[in-house]
Amino acid sequence: MEQFAVRGGRPLIGEVAIAGAKNAALGILAASIMADEDVVVRNLPDVSDVNTLLEAISDTGAVVRRLGRHEVQMNGRSIRSFVVDNSYIRKMRAGYYMLGALLGKYHYAEVALPGGCTIGSRPIDQHLKGFEALGAKTSIKNSMVLVEAEELHGANIYFDGVTVGATINVMMAAVFAEGKTVLENVAKEPHVVDVANFLNSMGARIRGAGTDVIRIYGVKSLHGTDYTVIPDQIEAGTFMAAAAATRGDILVKNVIPKHLECISSKLREIGCSVTEYDDAVRVTAHGDLKKTRLKTLPYPGFPTDMQPQMVVVLSTASGSSTVTETIFENRYKYVDELNRMGTSITVEGNVAIVNGVKELHGAQLVAPDLRAGAALTIAALASDGDSLIEEVQFILRGYEDFVEKLQLLGGRIKRVETDTEARKFLMKLDVI
Ligand code: UD1
Repeated sequence: MEQFAVRGGRPLIGEVAIAGAKNAALGILAASIMADEDVVVRNLPDVSDVNTLLEAISDTGAVVRRLGRHEVQMNGRSIRSFVVDNSYIRKMRAGYYMLGALLGKYHYAEVALPGGCTIGSRPIDQHLKGFEALGAKTSIKNSMVLVEAEELHGANIYFDGVTVGATINVMMAAVFAEGKTVLENVAKEPHVVDVANFLNSMGARIRGAGTDVIRIYGVKSLHGTDYTVIPDQIEAGTFMAAAAATRGDILVKNVIPKHLECISSKLREIGCSVTEYDDAVRVTAHGDLKKTRLKTLPYPGFPTDMQPQMVVVLSTASGSSTVTETIFENRYKYVDELNRMGTSITVEGNVAIVNGVKELHGAQLVAPDLRAGAALTIAALASDGDSLIEEVQFILRGYEDFVEKLQLLGGRIKRVETDTEARKFLMKLDVI
């Protein structure tokens, strides 16, 4: 199995270009099938979640033509199957966006039920509540979610909690619903806005994405478009955290600095220097960083997907920081791994007390999920020793060229298949 071999102890310095946003791309690709004309999507990240969704879409009979590493042309006219089975969903949860897209267009969809995952139970009750309000019948049989409708009509829907997935899914289904749909208490994440902008570029009439209320005026059909996905907020934030944890200096390019404000302001608060440019941010950190209090919240609050990376940064700060996770109930699984590197973190319920330590040590680590895996990699680079990180396929679900980008920043890291290959890589570093 593939692993990362890492030798820490060097600040990461240089420039890194950020790929397109994975979570926006997943919504946009599902929504692409709602048009019967050619749709071109650009700036797609080349990550396994996106590639798995493209396979699932191709399996429905839609045209999926790769134009390049980051571009694809799609056409939903030839769809013959409305089923997305578990072979895709177990690799990539966001296949549930096919529910909203297929229900909206064909009034029928069957998608494997996304199970719980390491960060939490991940229910879909709010998705189903939204579909039902639009006139659909929903049921779950043999681990498949089935949604069908004679016709879809506009409705007023108030979500019980702020959810990205339900906001995007119900918004897609409502595009073709007769009349006006009002979604309240919606998610305001940049990728929600990007999916709405994409649908509007195909002729949908969605207003208010990015605020608490989204209004959708039903249309009869969507036309083709040529659309570029926004940059990935979380990939950018991960490199910002890497600069902070390794006391480095990274110019993070191809970003929308506004989307990073929640991360920039926390980093400034603990003593990093963050400079914003039109489409880049530079993060520099030296010497002691300070403790802080941090709470994950829906956008524009601090993203839950940046919580593990920030815990690594705070482990290198002086004093005792408090981190409260309010989005997912089980997002501290990686803490045991980190503590084996010499961090001093205690978790009680959804609160982690992170006591800063002088040094992190290398260790044999297992990535429990995507973002935690990225955080462990940062910790390994910030440590004073050698680490081996297993289960890195989680990391590759969401980060394009992660290892190559870290190498360009001076990180001593390599993807290896075996322990022997790892030892060889690390021994070679001894003689350099
Ligand atoms: C998306 C992101 C994920 C990110 C999360 C929060 C994608 C593909 N994934 O996940 O990376 O961590 O947003 O920013 O975009 N909930 C319910 N009922 C529902 C749906 C959600 O109770 O029907 C709860 C969840 O358990 C969680 C909270 O709402 O506690 C937020 O979940 P949600 O925003 O929906 O996350 P995802 O869309 O799954």
